[in-house]
Amino acid sequence: MKRLLITLLAAFALLPALAQDDVESRVEELIFRMTLDDKIGQLHQIDGRTDLGKVCDMIRKGQISSIMNIVDAAVIDSLQRIALEESPAGIPILFSRDIVHGFKTILPIPLGQAASFDDALIRSAARNTALEATEIGIKWAFAPMMDIARDPRWGRIAEGFGEDPYLASRLAVSVVEGYQGEDLSDELSMAACAKHFVAYGAAEGGRDYNTTYVPLRSLYDTYFPPFKACVDAGVASFMSSFNDNDGVPATGNKWLLSEVLREDWGFQGMVVSDWGSVGGLIPHGVAGDKKEAAKICLEAGCDMDMMSYSYLNHLKELIAEGSVSMQTLDEAVRRVLRLKVRLGLLEKPYTRKASESVIYSEAVLETACRLAEESSVLLKNDGVLPIAEEVKTVLVCGPMADAAYDQLGTWALDGDKTHTITPIAAIRRELPSDVKLIYANPLSYPRAQSSDDFKALKKAARKADVIIAFVGEEQMMSGEAHSLSNLHLQGQQSEMLEALASCGKPLVTVIMAGRPLVIGSELELSNAVLYMWHPGTMGGQAAYNLLWGLSNPSGKLPVTFPRNEGQIPIYYNHKHTSHIAKGTEGNLDSVPREKPQSVMGHTSSYLDVAPTPLLPFGFGLSYTTFELSNLRVDNPVISDSEAVVFYVDVKNTGDREGCEVVQAYVGRKTASTTRPMKELKAYERVSLKAGESKTLRLEIPAESLAFCRKDMSWGTEPGNYVLTVGTSSEGGLRSYFKLEK
Ligand code: GLC
Repeated sequence: MKRLLITLLAAFALLPALAQDDVESRVEELIFRMTLDDKIGQLHQIDGRTDLGKVCDMIRKGQISSIMNIVDAAVIDSLQRIALEESPAGIPILFSRDIVHGFKTILPIPLGQAASFDDALIRSAARNTALEATEIGIKWAFAPMMDIARDPRWGRIAEGFGEDPYLASRLAVSVVEGYQGEDLSDELSMAACAKHFVAYGAAEGGRDYNTTYVPLRSLYDTYFPPFKACVDAGVASFMSSFNDNDGVPATGNKWLLSEVLREDWGFQGMVVSDWGSVGGLIPHGVAGDKKEAAKICLEAGCDMDMMSYSYLNHLKELIAEGSVSMQTLDEAVRRVLRLKVRLGLLEKPYTRKASESVIYSEAVLETACRLAEESSVLLKNDGVLPIAEEVKTVLVCGPMADAAYDQLGTWALDGDKTHTITPIAAIRRELPSDVKLIYANPLSYPRAQSSDDFKALKKAARKADVIIAFVGEEQMMSGEAHSLSNLHLQGQQSEMLEALASCGKPLVTVIMAGRPLVIGSELELSNAVLYMWHPGTMGGQAAYNLLWGLSNPSGKLPVTFPRNEGQIPIYYNHKHTSHIAKGTEGNLDSVPREKPQSVMGHTSSYLDVAPTPLLPFGFGLSYTTFELSNLRVDNPVISDSEAVVFYVDVKNTGDREGCEVVQAYVGRKTASTTRPMKELKAYERVSLKAGESKTLRLEIPAESLAFCRKDMSWGTEPGNYVLTVGTSSEGGLRSYFKLEK
């Protein structure tokens, strides 16, 4: 019988990409023949890094639907063959992996990619990632992660696209499109997974996994948008998050996973839990045991249980006793089978035999290098960069100058450090022959405590025309479960920079990190600062290209940099409050010790630090300069079915080609609720030659101004809007438009 089923299904192989009704009929064909055990097995996902003998036994019993973390094509095919030929229902296994920013060729961490504001390049890089991963048989990636993060203490800020919902929405969609391509059944495509649903990045204290309290209005206005955008873009799966929001763990939250995600948004895909998060309801204290947890989560709309074994071990009993309906079970099974059918697994369950490997191919590496360049943000430059031809002796130093593993960043599971191009490797290879390189590294890694007081380093520095110091964070200092309370450079890196700065030579500081760090003093004592995040496999080549001017930095901060940890949370799209800060507060020296009120105001600020960030969202310098002018709104009065159209002239006023990211922010003077002072609603990268001008046409659809109104309904409101167009979230040209009903 099973062979007949396989033959039948294989007959479909000649069909073009599956039409929806084909998918449904094939899902029904499968489910019709499945036993209760077969169905329960389709809701169970395990980690493949275990005793493969036991895994084979479980496959033969039909107990495994998806296996994570096997990245050997031969092993994948051998397990798949057992599933097809020796399991009761003969349903293919879905092999999955955390492929968050590259597979073998590691891209910049997503937070770094976000700084590029380059949707197209991110999409192209993600497509390359899919080609590398599907080559060895991975058909499901647990990415993009799109948790809005406003707290750099949270280690997973590295994995998302920063603090802004609009930017995160556009870039998450770019990754979904890159991974899934035009046709999910294409052998080069893999299913994406929108994670972590929802508000995981709002963990109290920036402590990973911690409680979140995000009220409904903020969920809709800030945390939902990237996920909704991915549903609209056809993302194939979602992952529920670990956290409880306002008392309800996401994995067991029926309102979230069924009402919002499916009924309101129309999501047709499959929801997988996070690692053990079904069983996580027990430590959360909302389930007494895994049986209860299984019932809550399955009925909430969590289809597949990652690693808690709650479904596998308890659903049969729950069905038998009538605690969980067969209909509920079948709905979850259908969503899992639908994903497998759409992926083309039934016709092509085995790894594709690539005629030529794309892994580490020149094209893939070149794209990764470009993305690392565009992800880098020039935070300061007194003219020392790009390094001039007159510079004939360069000192390169710092613990991130040759950190092949750490440079890859968090979630670089399949990155191979032997393929990493580190800065010192690139500089050694590319430096012009008439330039002398001095390389010194008193700090073997970022947290190292150096024994000496950098005497030898300073001696070397005095011989150099320019010093380039590579500092930052080890890979393990960000990512899951890696939150920090102190965001200063670790170890003696700051002391090293101070020692270098004391030598009176131009100091270029390059920072490779998984988050915004508190770098006010380093910014002060450096002549130039380039923030590369963790730039991935090609980071060293990108560093050379940028420092020596083969490329011109164009990155813009996707997240606000605080002056100190005490300012956190600090983000650009904050609300007005009733006591708006003037921006000049925080300087106690200017305040008389008696009757200070004569000087001090009553504003939302601090006594001991300015209320403004060290560096604002959207900020980034270039080796050239740009000027915006002549902002004009084409249609200053729009209805809620139209878009406001506006033009702005951009001129490259410098002496070399460069790329600017023009950003458009919208704010309101009054609304039915308090609203952010400004919100990013459009941006465009524009490349201009020296002296070249261009008129940009941008538009903002009225529907993108929708928000959760006072009566909790979602929609726009008539009124006056302030449009600010600039090259950062601070400053810019101002104009106005009106939205009428
Ligand atoms: C982890 C992460 C999640 C990842 C999953 C599988 O705990 O939270 O992002 O996809 O487990 O590794």
